[in-house]
Parts: sequence; C-alpha cells; structure tokens
Amino acid sequence: MVSTDCQVNSEMPAHRYEQLVQSVVDYAIYMLDTTGHIASWNAGAQRIKGYSADEVVGRHFSLFFTPEDCAEGKPEQLLRQALEHGVSRHEGWRQRKDGTRFWALVALDVVRDDQGQIVGLAKVTRDITDRRESAMQLDAVRAQLFEAQKLEALGQLAGGLAHDFNNLLTIILSSARLALAAPDPERAQRMLHNILEAGQRGTDLTRQLLSFARHRKLEVTCIEPAKLIDATHGLLVHALPSSITLDTRVQPDLPNIEVDAGQLQMVLLNLLFNARDAIAEEGHIALTVEAVLLTGEVDGLHGRFVCFDVQDSGEGIAADVLPRIFEPFFTTKPFGKGTGLGLSQVHGFARQSGGAVSVHSELGGGTRMRLYLPVHSSQPGFKP
Ligand SMILES: Nc1ncnc2c1ncn2[C@@H]1O[C@H](COP(=O)(O)OP(=O)(O)O)[C@@H](O)[C@H]1O
Ligand SMILES: [Mg+2]
Repeated sequence: MVSTDCQVNSEMPAHRYEQLVQSVVDYAIYMLDTTGHIASWNAGAQRIKGYSADEVVGRHFSLFFTPEDCAEGKPEQLLRQALEHGVSRHEGWRQRKDGTRFWALVALDVVRDDQGQIVGLAKVTRDITDRRESAMQLDAVRAQLFEAQKLEALGQLAGGLAHDFNNLLTIILSSARLALAAPDPERAQRMLHNILEAGQRGTDLTRQLLSFARHRKLEVTCIEPAKLIDATHGLLVHALPSSITLDTRVQPDLPNIEVDAGQLQMVLLNLLFNARDAIAEEGHIALTVEAVLLTGEVDGLHGRFVCFDVQDSGEGIAADVLPRIFEPFFTTKPFGKGTGLGLSQVHGFARQSGGAVSVHSELGGGTRMRLYLPVHSSQPGFKP
C-alpha cells in the first residue's frame, strides 16, 4: 500500500523540521539573532544546559560561557568570526544552569534568507566531556606505556654500559698507575692523555643515557634526525655484542622532522633491539636514514618523508607470524625476554606522527623495517 503521507503540503517541511530539531536530545540546537541573543531552543539544549526555553529565549548566548572566557571576549569573537566567515567552530568549557561545566564542541553557522541576507545564526553544541576524558586517559596510558618501555630499554642499555664503564675504568686505573711509575715526563704525559680521553668518553656516555632517561613529557618539537641518530647510536653500540656489527649511514643535509624526540629514540631502540635479538650468533645490522618522496606506495602516503631503515641479517619472520607482529603483547620471545609491546609502540608512534612503518621479511632471509616520518612542513631545500 502506498502511503499518502508523502504528499507534503507547503506547511509540512517547516513543521517537520521543527519536530526533528525538537526531538534531538544529544545536541543543543538553537538559533541566535545577529547580536547573539537566543531566538529558539530545543530539547537537547534544555537537557545539556539545564535551562528551559522561557528562561533563555531573548538572553545573550554568553550566558553559557565561563567567566574566564567572557572576560577574554570569547562569545563576541565567535560571533564576529561566524558573521565574517559564515561559520565558526570552537571546543571548550561551557557552564550549565547549575554551574557545573561540560566540554563542548560548538559550531556556529550563519543562516541567510532567500536574498542572501543574514537573518540569524544556527548554533549546535555537543557535550563531549566523555570523549575528552577518554582521550586524556588514553594519553595517560600511552605516557605510562612509554615510561615502562623506557625503563625496559634503560635496563637493556645499562647491562652494556656497565661493561663499557668497567673498560674505561680499567684504562683510567692502569694509565694512572703507569703514569705514577713513569720515569720520564713524556711517558707520564701520554698516560695522562689516555686518562683524559677515557674520562671524556665516560662523560659522553652518561650524558647520552641521562638525556634519554630524562625525556619525560611527550613533546613534539622540530628535530634534526642526524643529531638524534648520533645520540641513539652512541647508546646502542654498547648494547650490542661484539659479534654483531652495526653500520650506520645518515644522508647528509637531511630535512628536519616534527616529532617527540624521546619517543623516536625509543622507537629506534625498539627496532634495533629486535634486530639484535633476531641474530643468533654473528651478523650485522644496517641503519640507514635518508629522505624519500612517497607517492602512495606505503600506506597510501604522499609527500616528503625521512625514512629510518633498519635491516638485519637475522632469522627473519615466518609468513604466518608476520601479520601479527604489530599486535600489542604479541611476542615469540621467551618469558622475561620479550613483552610484545615494542612494535605496537613503533606502529602507534608512526601513525600518530603522520607516518608509517613497513616490514619486509622472510624466514632465514633477515628483516627490513622502515619507519617513515613526514618532513617538517616549513622545510626548505628538500632533496629526495
Ligand atoms: N627484526 C626482527 N627479526 C625477526 N623477528 C622480529 C623482528 N622484529 C620483530 N620481530 C618479531 O615480532 C615480534 C614482536 O616484536 P615486539 O613487538 O618488538 O615485541 P618483543 O620484541 O618484545 O617480542 C617479536 O617477538 C618477533 O617475533
Ligand atoms: Mg621488541
């Protein structure tokens, strides 16, 4: 049977529209006149803000702003922006009738009549306090995970460093003894030089370790890849057994990238530790850093990227394991050796930074992991 309801008379659309707006309870939808005074009110507005229509119609919409925002002139700014550009968007605290606050996502759009004259503004407000809290909790968990991973990495590095510090101390002690017993001043001088050099190397090592340990906040800054590689390389060589050679190549004049330096260093250590773990006895790891131009071949990315390429001659990854390696807690390593969080962190970091990570691996054929991070937007002189 065909319904006749669809034969719309000229009154219906406005009426239906009014019904629709009134039935929406998750969004506050209301009209303002061009001076910012409230002209209409819906059920969602009442539910979210706590005022009934007769309490607010005719009042200025700055009523919902916090005193701080009012003092800064936020309501007027939003109104002016909407009137000038046709639209304004804002996220921030708003105040309910009972004084409690909620985090609002606000859109203000001008409404024009048939002649194009502005007759008012449509305001849509959504309470996204829950979403904001989840996002903040997620950030807190991410920061905790980062801290936990950092401690693990520091533990791994400390083993190698302790060994190297011992070597440096041996040089210092034996040179000092020889200097004391040296009959001629020239020999004593040479010994003192050895002591100085070993002391300096020790200082450099501690500085690098401390700067890694100290990265606290997740803070995005503009960084020079070569400098970061230098610091990471300095730490890493001590965590590798002498049976593994590390070959680091960094393209000169690399463009800068915009990431959290501490996180990137962690991510690189994760990739390099994985490469180390994959090499049973002897082998090599190549770390190459270069600028590349992507045209959709990696995760559909386009543009200029810095590629951190870690290639190892290790055992490789079996085809049935490969799809799972980026899953959190997935590990093939024995208990106490792997947490399965390294690559999920690498993946999360790459995504968050607007980049990607790719893997090529075959059982018995080694593994190649490439991390792509976008070049800082205001970067001149890029050479792919
Ligand atoms: N370079 C690599 N060579 C071989 N296997 C690797 C390599 N990198 C990662 N994997 C595999 O991916 C798994 C997950 O890695 P990851 O998330 O870093 O956790 P974990 O290192 O703690 O196991 C590893 O257990 C390993 O099986
Ligand atoms: Mg790992």
